[in-house]
Amino acid sequence: MKERVEELTRILEEANYNYYVLDNPTITDQEYDKYMRELIDLEEKYPELKKTTSPTMHVGGEVIDKFNKITHQKPMLSLPDVFNEDEIENFVNKISEEHLNPSYVCEQKFDGLSVSLVYKNGILISGATRGDGVVGEDITHNVKTIKAVPLHLKKDIDIEVRGEIIMSKATLEKLNKQRSEQGLPLLQNCRNAAAGSARQLDSKVAAQRNLDNFIYHLPNPEDYGLKTHYEALEFMKSLGFKVSSKCALVKTKEEIIKYIDDLAKERPNLPYDIDGVVIKVNELDIQEKLGFTSKYPRWAIAYKFPSEEVYTKLKDIIFTVGRTGQITPNAVLEPVIVMGSMIKRATLHNEEYVRELGLKIGDIVAIHKAGDVIPEVIRPLEERRTGLEKDFVMIDTCPICGERLIKKDKLIDYFCPNEHCPARKINSLIHFASRNAMNIDGLGDEIIENLYNEGYLKTILDFYYLYEHKEDLKELEGFGEKSVNKILESIDNSKQNSLERLLFGLGISGIGEKNAKLLARTYENIDKLKYATCEELTNIKDIGNILAQNIVDFFQNNKQLIEDIKNIGINTNYIGEKSSFNEYITGKKFVITGTIEGLSRDEIKSFIEKNNGTVSESVSKNTDIVIVGANPGSKYQKALDLNIMIYDEQKLKEVMKM
Ligand code: IVH
Repeated sequence: MKERVEELTRILEEANYNYYVLDNPTITDQEYDKYMRELIDLEEKYPELKKTTSPTMHVGGEVIDKFNKITHQKPMLSLPDVFNEDEIENFVNKISEEHLNPSYVCEQKFDGLSVSLVYKNGILISGATRGDGVVGEDITHNVKTIKAVPLHLKKDIDIEVRGEIIMSKATLEKLNKQRSEQGLPLLQNCRNAAAGSARQLDSKVAAQRNLDNFIYHLPNPEDYGLKTHYEALEFMKSLGFKVSSKCALVKTKEEIIKYIDDLAKERPNLPYDIDGVVIKVNELDIQEKLGFTSKYPRWAIAYKFPSEEVYTKLKDIIFTVGRTGQITPNAVLEPVIVMGSMIKRATLHNEEYVRELGLKIGDIVAIHKAGDVIPEVIRPLEERRTGLEKDFVMIDTCPICGERLIKKDKLIDYFCPNEHCPARKINSLIHFASRNAMNIDGLGDEIIENLYNEGYLKTILDFYYLYEHKEDLKELEGFGEKSVNKILESIDNSKQNSLERLLFGLGISGIGEKNAKLLARTYENIDKLKYATCEELTNIKDIGNILAQNIVDFFQNNKQLIEDIKNIGINTNYIGEKSSFNEYITGKKFVITGTIEGLSRDEIKSFIEKNNGTVSESVSKNTDIVIVGANPGSKYQKALDLNIMIYDEQKLKEVMKM
């Protein structure tokens, strides 16, 4: 039996290597499945024959309850970003001025999650994330499911290698199709999907995600008598690792630029996402002389591709009605991926914006998404017009209730003045429940719209009577016992909110989050505020005449509503957020750039503020920490230039204990 297990192991290892590393399948999927089945059965029958590096590990099965920490043998550093030719020239010039005859290796910059793999005697011992660079998370159980990661090397040596765990574009597409069928939120892009999959507690889930891996770095090349990085790549390839065939050995800046240009052209057709080119000094003795700064090696840079511009068809311009009645034109686009996210809609802000761009329906338009900026339609491609495009016509009646639209003085926007317009009502309800207002969990926009249409929700007070319809709600599509309980609990909890949340949620014209806080702090309870006069209110810094009048009018017109709110038991006093101390946050000034998987900017902001930190918009020398997520903007570069401490996604989640 032992012999058969060994034979099957050999066959499957070989098949994996040919298929996943060399991209050159040698046996059919059916044969592979047959051998795998046989090995799984044998290992079940004779567990003593199962090795920790058996090919059956690729199927997953190991579940952990928390991630253990792994301290890296050497820090896992990241690379300084450069964005243009001049910066590449500076890098090359500086090195050739000080060192004799350097050469460079150009590589793809894979957009995934970096990983360190440690082997003892040729056997995979551990896989770890970068973490904060010094200590990472043990994700060995998931790494073992990646078929491009050899569990067994071609030589029985001790070695650590580093590379990137990635998800192919095709896998992401397939996964998102399944998720959409199951009503699950879609994964934003390949990088987030790879990172999320590699950090699953259950390795069966990771195994289903079909992750891939490229290896690009050998931390201790001297141990193997190597002289150059290029040799290190070849060496790692010879051990069975998947090393990209697109690594190029070059001598000059011109060759580097040519590599970048060629790769940029190839990029849309690559099966996986890359976000730039890594340029590394090839000679290891020069690398050693150049050494490291506290954060980066001095012998490598990462050139980042400029933000992507893609073209798609403007299928239509539709209008939405906000809670204040404001009408917004929106571009309906032929779905397209920009910077890894699927874009179907983009705001066109207002009539003037559409006219200035000169958009026609049916145009091919350029869309752009830079760093953390939301997608934007930048221009029509006039040269691609066919003559069939239709002119944009601004509407003059509300698309929902048919009321004639009005313009408020000096404002460019149109408004639906009908206070009973269903669109306005629904958006007011959505606003009331939103995270920064009453923070009612589990009630997404669509659910609120459905509850409105079904007649359960007409005014904000109805949220607090939903419990009376508990049994009916459970019968609605997409609801179940558990979700209804969760929603009702969250609604009940919202009664305890501090006053500013209620004031913001009421949607008083001109009262944003900041003013709501100001009013709550100044008046302390709603009864004092409701009697405030214009004169009194304008004495408060930041409250002008119009705003003061809005507040007075609101309380004049909504006396019954305020009484009802109190009778329901909603708190109407200022409590203030309970703040606490966090050594990573308290007293520090933060700037946020890029997106963090699973956390909105508001959530991060509110966590920081709760812990007595502050968040500002721009990076300056006074900034203590910059939180850098996926697709960061120029703030990231500025943080690097000013040498400001950076929290990446993992560090932030660690600090937030996620
Ligand atoms: S080399 C000490 N090579 O980009 C140098 N990194 O911003 C170690 N990355 O953290 C990194 N492709 O996750 C290197 N071909 C490549 C890469 C690469 C992607 C990632 C890696 C690193 C980040 C640097």
